[in-house]
Amino acid sequence: MTTALRSPARIRRTASRTASARGPLTVAQLGDHTRFLAQELLAGSHPWRFDAQSRWHQRLYRDDRVDVWLITWMPAQGTQLHDHGGSSGAFTVLEGALEEASLAGPRTAAHLQRRDRQAGATVSFGPRYVHDVLNTSARPAVSVHAYSPPLTSMTFYDLADDGGLTRIAQLDTDDPEASLENAEPLL
Ligand SMILES: [Fe+2]
Repeated sequence: MTTALRSPARIRRTASRTASARGPLTVAQLGDHTRFLAQELLAGSHPWRFDAQSRWHQRLYRDDRVDVWLITWMPAQGTQLHDHGGSSGAFTVLEGALEEASLAGPRTAAHLQRRDRQAGATVSFGPRYVHDVLNTSARPAVSVHAYSPPLTSMTFYDLADDGGLTRIAQLDTDDPEASLENAEPLL
């Protein structure tokens, strides 16, 4: 699906509206931000498309305090378990549904929580958050993501046989959809 194109300037205006005067956005502000942007996007503020080969994504806005991305997910498209470096973040599902496996506390498989994130759901998280997001549904999904401070690095993980979390690669990147193939292996 592609929405009608309207001015990306609206995205920039909404981004600055929810940011405080200075410093990174709080976790609560990030959630408010993506929730508000989801409404703007559903009203046609920016187009999106789907890519059967890999997740389509596009940066909507960036300044020195916040970075905003629009991501689409075909069925079975998903991420690898990852963190967001020193950035906090939030995402809101606009359409469809995503499954999220997350670790907000101890980094072991026993603490991995799987939740369905239906359209309208917003998830906010701090800089230690680790998660994996996958479209397990039969329908395409769309989500808007914000990071503050803007993303600079990601670390990717696997669950080890003993239930612990193993760091498998680290990548300096400002792109939340950067390929793991470009990451520096840590094993
Ligand atoms: Fe993420």
